[in-house]
Amino acid sequence: MNIIIINGPNLNLLGVREPDIYGGETFDDFFERLQLDFPHVSLHYFQSNSEGAIIDKLHEVGFHFDGIILNAGAYTHTSIAIADAIASITTPVVEVHISNVFAREPFRHHSYIAPNCVGSIVGLGLQGYALAVEYFI
Ligand code: DQA
Repeated sequence: MNIIIINGPNLNLLGVREPDIYGGETFDDFFERLQLDFPHVSLHYFQSNSEGAIIDKLHEVGFHFDGIILNAGAYTHTSIAIADAIASITTPVVEVHISNVFAREPFRHHSYIAPNCVGSIVGLGLQGYALAVEYFI
C-alpha cells in the first residue's frame, strides 16, 4: 500500500515555527516514528513551499497511489488550483491540519480543498497524519 504525505508551505519549519501552535517536533522525526508504527505501509513524504510543485506531485501520484494525506498549509485557504488538482485525480485525499483552524482567524475557516477530499482531520496535532494513515488502511 502506497500512501504519501504532502505538506505545503512553511511546514518544513515544523519544530521551529510557532511551537505553541504547531508543537516542538520536526516533521522528519515524526515521520521516522510514523514509519515504525506502520511497517507494512509504504509511506512517502513530499514538502514544497510552491503551489505548482504541490500540484505536480498530486498529478504524479494521484492515479496509482492508494492514499494522499495533504496539509496544504495556507494554500488551503487560497488555492482553487490545488482544489482542481484534487478533483482531477483518482486517488482519495484526506485533508489534515495540525492546528484547529476553526479556533483561529476567520480567514482560516474556509478550505477550498475540503469539498474535494474524502474527509478532514483538524486540530489533533501531528497525530492527525497517523489517523489519516489508519483511515486508508
Ligand atoms: C495549517 C493551518 C493553516 O491555516 C496554516 O496556514 C498552516 C498550517 C495547520 O496544519 O494547522 O500553514 O495547515
